[in-house]
Parts: sequence; structure tokens; C-alpha cells
Amino acid sequence: MTSTVNIAILGSGLFALHAYLPNLLTPENKHINLHTVWSRSESSAQKLVDAAKEKSGGSVSPRLTFGDDGLETVLNDKEIQGVMLVLPIRTQMDLVFKCLKAGKHVLSEKPIGTDVAAARELVDEYEKTYKPKGLIWRVAEDVDHEPMVHKAAEKVRDPALGPVLYWSMEAHGYIEDASMYHATEWRTIPDYQGGFLLDGGVHDAALIRLVLPNPPEQIISSANLHRNHIPPHDIVQAIALSPSTETEAHGPASKLKGIRGRDEIPGGIGRSSSTGTIVFSFAIADLDSKPPKGIIVNCLNGTVRLQMVAGNWKLEVQPGKGTNVKPFTEEGKRVGVREECAYFARAIAALKDGQQVDEKESRGNPRHMLWDVALIEALLTSNGEKVDMQKLLSGK
Ligand SMILES: *[C@@H]1O[C@H](CO)[C@@H](O)[C@H](O)[C@H]1NC(C)=O
Repeated sequence: MTSTVNIAILGSGLFALHAYLPNLLTPENKHINLHTVWSRSESSAQKLVDAAKEKSGGSVSPRLTFGDDGLETVLNDKEIQGVMLVLPIRTQMDLVFKCLKAGKHVLSEKPIGTDVAAARELVDEYEKTYKPKGLIWRVAEDVDHEPMVHKAAEKVRDPALGPVLYWSMEAHGYIEDASMYHATEWRTIPDYQGGFLLDGGVHDAALIRLVLPNPPEQIISSANLHRNHIPPHDIVQAIALSPSTETEAHGPASKLKGIRGRDEIPGGIGRSSSTGTIVFSFAIADLDSKPPKGIIVNCLNGTVRLQMVAGNWKLEVQPGKGTNVKPFTEEGKRVGVREECAYFARAIAALKDGQQVDEKESRGNPRHMLWDVALIEALLTSNGEKVDMQKLLSGK
């Protein structure tokens, strides 16, 4: 039996209401007790409290707190073990350490920071000061917690597929002007790079990071703004390189006898390194059906696709003819938000009960989330020049 964990949710905006609340109240998350709700304004906190009561048929009735005093109440309350931060990026960056300092375990919404430099500082400080004290900090990017993404990663690593030759990742979104998620102050006029590309793109960066055995080491990209209502940029298109994977081309040379030797070919002969293309876009028209979001990984002996089809994940392995690769197809629901709440609370419960945190459920590591922000920053800033991911990450 997992013991119950008291959680406070900080922030009561759309995502708290539509994504967190239903997932906190599912039967799978019975080990979570929604103890307190906090928001900057009373009316906004009230909305979330009311929704919690209504959705749970009255069985869940969190305490309402708001404003600076309310925040102090949450931080000083020994009953609250974990906090979930569902707030605009900048507010969140300030609050993470306030909560950790108060001895609370933290799950905070993505992105981890507005840029690599700011996010790196947070991660360094967490690892130096708070992690050694046994305090958990996880970032909720949900893709990191999607079972189907981890299954795709496993499939790509099937030795029968051989090495990854090339891949493509595409995500096309349409943001209607003044629509629900657009009409938030912090998104309409963002005070951080990329706008929706950062906010939404970190999910897709996580997908690349998790699925590929060799994530990009260098990025060459172009960023644009096609639609005036979603500044600063609404599309990045890029080539992603992994020079460390470079090998000779695969398989035997052709059985056919040519008229000239290989060393006589003008321009020389190519080598093989795992290379990909990335398109993250909010610039597409409002189509009836958008191209599916996802990644296609072309390996020596087959192709793996993980795509979002009609709101669900679809994973497919297509074998090359005459290879030993097994065909595979599976569909799966999106359960990332539910899982990240569940795993977070179970990790707290384990610590509370003097047990180890389940390694398989240790996701949302801030260090990995930093990579996701770095990928977006590289995509936004490359301007046709090569950006080295390691250099960007280390700041040197
Ligand atoms: C790929 O398939 C070929 C048969 O078409 C086989 O000879 C080769 O060993 C396979 N590669 C791997 C890595 O299994």
C-alpha cells in the first residue's frame, strides 16, 4: 500500500483546471490528496476549489489560499509534502526554490526555464543544494512520462534494426488568434524566446531526446515568423547532426562491376552518420486534418514511426524485406499528465516510508529538461550557423 501524499497545487489557470485536476482525481491517483489550492488571486483559486468539489462529488474539498500570505501558509504547512507548480514560466522559476527551501518536493510545469543560461543555473543549484537533502524536483513535460514514447525508444534500439540512418520529426500546430490558450497574457506577448515554439516545442524536443539512441549534437536551423499574431517566431526548420556516429557506409559494396574504381569517383565517397530534420511549426493553415505530429526513424533494416493520430499515439515498426525485424503496431492513449502526478506522489510516499524511489518512475529529471530547452534555443538562434549542443549546454 502506498501511503497518501498531501499535495498543494500552485496556480489555477486553464492547465490546472483542464489537465491537472481531472488527473489528480482519477482512481489511479487515489494516493494523492489534493490538500490545498493556491493562486495569486482569490477568485481564480476559488474556481479551482469549486471544480474539485464538483468533479469529485464533494469528496475532495481542498483548502483555498491566495496571495502572498496564502503562499506563506502553504510553505509553512508541515502537512503538505509536495507542491505542483502550474504557473507562467517566469513566476515558476522564482517559486521552485522557495518551495524547495521550505522542504517541499516540487513538480513544476515545463519549460524548466526561459533560456539555457537561466535554466542551467536552476539545475546546478538544485543538484548542489537540494538534491543532496533528498528533495525531489521534477519537471512536468508529460512526453517524458508517456509509456508509448518509452516503448518507441525500446523499439528503435532493437539490434535487428541496425543503426539509425536518418530521421525526421515534425509537429504542426495551429493557434487561432484569441483562442483559449492564446488569450493568456504571458503567451500573447511572451517575455521569453520563441513564444509557442518554446512552450510547446519542449515536448517535441523530449520526444527526440528519448526516442533516438544518438540525439542531435549539432543544429543548423532557420527560424521565421509567418503569422503576425504569434510573435516572436512561429516556425523552425532544421538539420540535426550527430557527427560522433559517423561510420563507413553499411553493407557490402555493389555486386555490379563498374567501369571505374571507387577512388576514381569525382567528389569522393560519402560516409554514414545519423542525421535528422526537424520542423516545429505553428504556421500551418487551419486544416481539417493536419500532418501527423511525430518522429519517423529510418534504420538500416526497417523504419519506426511514433505519431499522434487523432489524439492517440500510434507506434509502428515496419521491417525491411528479408530482414529479421518483427513488424509491430500499437496504439496508446496520452497519459503523461496522469503519470507524472502519480509517479511524483509515489516517489514522495516512498521517501516518507523510508523506501527507495522506483528507478523506472524517476522521470522529469531537470537535467534532461535543460537539454530540451537547449534544443529549442539552438533551433531559434542558429540562423544558418552550426550550434554545438554541448557548448550551448555548458555555456563555454
Ligand atoms: C540487416 O538485414 C540483413 C539482411 O537483409 C542482415 O544481413 C543484417 O545482418 C541485418 N543487420 C542487422 C544489424 O541485424
